[in-house]
Amino acid sequence: MLKAGLIGCGNISGAYLRNKDVFRHLRVVKCASRRDESARAAAEQFGLEAVSVDALLRDPEIDVVLNLTTPDAHTEIDLRALEAGKHVYSEKPFALTREEARKVLRLAAEKGLRVGCAPDTFLGGGHQVCRKLVDSGAVGKISGGCAIMAYRGPESWHPNSGFYYKKGGGPLLDMGPYYISALVNLLGPVKQVAGFGSRATDLRLGSGPNRGRTYPVEVDTHFAAALEFVSGAVVNLTMSFDVFRLSEQMQNCIELWGLDGAIRTPDPNMFTGEVRFANAGTPAEWETPENKFIYHENMRLIGLADMAAGIERNRPHRCSGQLAYHVLDVMCSILDSAENRRFVAVESTCDRPAPLKEGLVPGDLD
Ligand SMILES: NC(=O)c1ccc[n+]([C@@H]2O[C@H](COP(=O)([O-])OP(=O)(O)OC[C@H]3O[C@@H](n4cnc5c(N)ncnc54)[C@H](OP(=O)(O)O)[C@@H]3O)[C@@H](O)[C@H]2O)c1
Repeated sequence: MLKAGLIGCGNISGAYLRNKDVFRHLRVVKCASRRDESARAAAEQFGLEAVSVDALLRDPEIDVVLNLTTPDAHTEIDLRALEAGKHVYSEKPFALTREEARKVLRLAAEKGLRVGCAPDTFLGGGHQVCRKLVDSGAVGKISGGCAIMAYRGPESWHPNSGFYYKKGGGPLLDMGPYYISALVNLLGPVKQVAGFGSRATDLRLGSGPNRGRTYPVEVDTHFAAALEFVSGAVVNLTMSFDVFRLSEQMQNCIELWGLDGAIRTPDPNMFTGEVRFANAGTPAEWETPENKFIYHENMRLIGLADMAAGIERNRPHRCSGQLAYHVLDVMCSILDSAENRRFVAVESTCDRPAPLKEGLVPGDLD
């Protein structure tokens, strides 16, 4: 069993820590943060030991660092963890630039250590049953689809939303990892992209404890892109913080369209949610397919647990640095395309992560 130390005790850390004892191959035992009080609060709530970041990185008991800091700190913490001889698993986006991400992958390769990265929601039961439908040919050859994430922006729920509007923020780098990872899981790697960006306003308002503050918007907050996959499929991707409301018919999800059928995935940001499926064999127009996969509730941490299982069993892990790099490369290519008004070939590629098995025992990945 691997022992993990968490760095970055903020908003999302509770969703991970709720599952700290769920998986057979992993325990989260210590936590650290920039401010000691954040680490102490998380430690008290979840029964961990709070330590300083330096102490956690020096600690021989810690095998792997779970990096839940804000995006601007991901690379620095990843590199420090690897330098300290620890495997590392980071929240998304993997890095803010391809160069930063390559530094992390290079150092991990030199040190013989693993790198993993969120999102892990595509390991949920909903997305796994979609993968099974695609792989079984139930929808035939997939020519295209659409992926949409659109709402009013993170100040509608996040107490500290300023970082979402800084360089490295925006809906594409923030939410793109969920949608693009889910698409790569279903369709394989992306070959080429075209992208457009816009923004509704140059100033955003803080909320909750930051009500009254304003944040300058340094990034585009609405993106429309087309992704051409190596498989030949072309998917329309919309990522927006500028949308007041979507209609009931148009929800945050992915739809894939094949000649013989169609699939609507759950929200790629969630483990929960309904799968809809149609083909000539479904009696109603849209059906919910039989689903024998487990992990339908919030299972954040499953990606790191899978990395721990991969280390123990000497097999690749699913939420890998290679996948995260490809997803980042796709997003940076969309940004390049939007800025320079041209199609951009995606240079990297990756393997599709292995599907999970149906009917696993809770806590197991194999
Ligand atoms: N919030 C969500 O629902 C959500 C969902 C999925 C993914 N994510 C991703 O998770 C990451 C964190 O998001 P969040 O919403 O949890 O942000 P957050 O509430 O701002 O928390 C980030 C935490 O990281 C700590 N931190 C920042 N820089 C650090 C550094 N250099 N060294 C040590 N600690 C540092 C901060 O420390 P102090 O408090 O100690 O100052 C803060 O507690 C982001 O990459 C985000 O995209 C968030």
